[in-house]
Amino acid sequence: MHRILAALLLLLAPQLAADEVRIEKLLSEMTLQEKLGQLTMYAPDQPELKDALAKGLVGSVLNTAHVRQANELQSAQLAGSKHRIPILFAYDVLHGYRTIFPIPLAVASSFDPEAAETVGAVSAREAREDAIRWTFAPMVDIARDARWGRMAEGSGEDPYLAGRMAAAYVRGFQSNGLLACAKHFVAYGAAEGGRDYGHAEVTEATLRNVYLPPFRAAVDAGVGSLMSAFNTVGDVPATANRKLLQDVLRSEWGFQGLVVSDWAAVSELVQHGIAATPAEAARKAFDAGVDIDMWDGAFMTLPASARIDEAVRRVLRAKFAAGLFEEPLVREPVVVSTSYRDARHVARRSIVLLKNDGGLLPLSKSRKIALAGPLAESSRDMLGPWHAKGSRATSVRDGLHLAGVETVRPIDADVIVAVFGETHEQSGEAASRTSLALPPDQQRQLESLVELGKPVVLIVMSGRPLAISWAAEHVPSIVQAWFLGSEGGNAIADVLFGDVNPSGKLPVSVPRTAAQAPVYYAHFPTGRPAGHRFTNRYQDIPVGPLYPFGHGLSYTTFEYSDLRVEGDVVSATIRNSGTRAGDEIVQFYVRDVVASVSRPVKELKGFQRVSLRPDQSVRVEFPLTRRELEFWTNGAWVVEPGEFQVWIAPSSEGGLTTKVYR
Ligand code: GLC
Repeated sequence: MHRILAALLLLLAPQLAADEVRIEKLLSEMTLQEKLGQLTMYAPDQPELKDALAKGLVGSVLNTAHVRQANELQSAQLAGSKHRIPILFAYDVLHGYRTIFPIPLAVASSFDPEAAETVGAVSAREAREDAIRWTFAPMVDIARDARWGRMAEGSGEDPYLAGRMAAAYVRGFQSNGLLACAKHFVAYGAAEGGRDYGHAEVTEATLRNVYLPPFRAAVDAGVGSLMSAFNTVGDVPATANRKLLQDVLRSEWGFQGLVVSDWAAVSELVQHGIAATPAEAARKAFDAGVDIDMWDGAFMTLPASARIDEAVRRVLRAKFAAGLFEEPLVREPVVVSTSYRDARHVARRSIVLLKNDGGLLPLSKSRKIALAGPLAESSRDMLGPWHAKGSRATSVRDGLHLAGVETVRPIDADVIVAVFGETHEQSGEAASRTSLALPPDQQRQLESLVELGKPVVLIVMSGRPLAISWAAEHVPSIVQAWFLGSEGGNAIADVLFGDVNPSGKLPVSVPRTAAQAPVYYAHFPTGRPAGHRFTNRYQDIPVGPLYPFGHGLSYTTFEYSDLRVEGDVVSATIRNSGTRAGDEIVQFYVRDVVASVSRPVKELKGFQRVSLRPDQSVRVEFPLTRRELEFWTNGAWVVEPGEFQVWIAPSSEGGLTTKVYR
């Protein structure tokens, strides 16, 4: 690999060197105002944009409506800029641009990094047709509190899974010409009470072992930018956090890319109470390490400093790398790209079968099937939050119809498919909620459907796990369908009728009630692990989540046997013990049983998808090396000798386990 990279660099070296020469020449000729313009990002509807364009002072623009608007703005900028420095156009392309894929939390359920890479690649191709060269994705915030609506945008509660998915998104976006942006740096998902824009009280060890690793994975994958978060980390706002933005990101990790603030997060340092004026806020954010100020124009007040050239250099490098100096304008495509087949493939893999008592699913199409619930007809909600320019989606009803199934009324049906959950407005940014239950009217409707005495299949559409405790007790089959995007209805029908055997696994724990949040599998053992009365538990609910991280059923069954530890390899045999072919996501967990500090009861350190025919077996192997054993404590990554416990399992609960000494 290194030889290939070296050869590539040699090939590119002349161009890179030439770009560097042009960048230094530009820096030597630009005025302070022109440089500060490069550090300023506008939205198209801002009144001050017109004047800034006329002076060639627009570095980047987010949220353009289409390529025509982008070309108009670009032409105005080039006409106003003495040095003809082009605009870099950005957009929130999280899970598709025109073709909408499942939300990232759903894609994480596939435990399939290739699926994430496909999302990135298709998104990049489509966004580029609209002159977009920079996306504010992947969102890599670890989220363990389902009251936080933005859980939908990330890859769940586990740092290892989130890191694998983050790296895959970065590869998918960037190898197809779209600059990626890992966000929101850092610990946004730890905001108190799951409230957006809030306060995150995290220790250095928790930052290092939980919230930073997915960002490190994105940086190691070559991500070209990061976005600073709204929240405070301890008592320092992330957007003015020099320790994180300089010491960790630049000095320790060697990150060379761009740091952009979140929307108005620079001027919000005044509200945070660490700056008296927007100008002081600008200095604090810039000195801490933010290179581009999104939307509030505060960086135009920055005083001259050596750091300015460093930031402008990063911006110009991104523009040269995007080829914008050579081709600032984009030819409008005659036919815009879409890729619904890819969307259906990813959606199929993102569906999690939570429960299937009596093998009710898959359904035969010949049965009399009723479809009920407020979300059954909704294609808009199927797109989920942050759906970019996506407008086309198949609802559950569309999916059943296209599968050739005409539904009947519940009263004359012999099975009822009920679609309940959240609307897309109840998910994403500014969607923190105190209740995770189904809305009261939906709960009542579900109970009345069950009272008809016919088998009910519950399909949950949501951007987070919902506290469906009643359904878990009274409904025989439950499918977690998230928001599956353009092909959601078709993918759900594919699973309902058995054209696809579901393989998804939960990337987050399902709470029994919002009051149980945050709930997650990699918790500390405490001095009194949950059990009898006088232990770490609640009096009024059973111990543990309703459904655990990593849980997901299939229409077949899998048998785990013969766990072995041989040298640095842990292995087991997985057999399809059921009657139909299926995929199983085999998971590998490790625990450091006794260490110098308390360590989680287990942590995911590997996963593999195996596809097995009935009665077929396969041996699955996982490495047990420093990488799987180390943790951060007291300023360093360490492996402490002693007793470890390992699992090869179908979820974060159960599976085969043994002790290992290292
Ligand atoms: C929003 C979000 C961020 C997004 C940005 C631009 O406030 O916090 O994730 O990328 O603004 O839309």
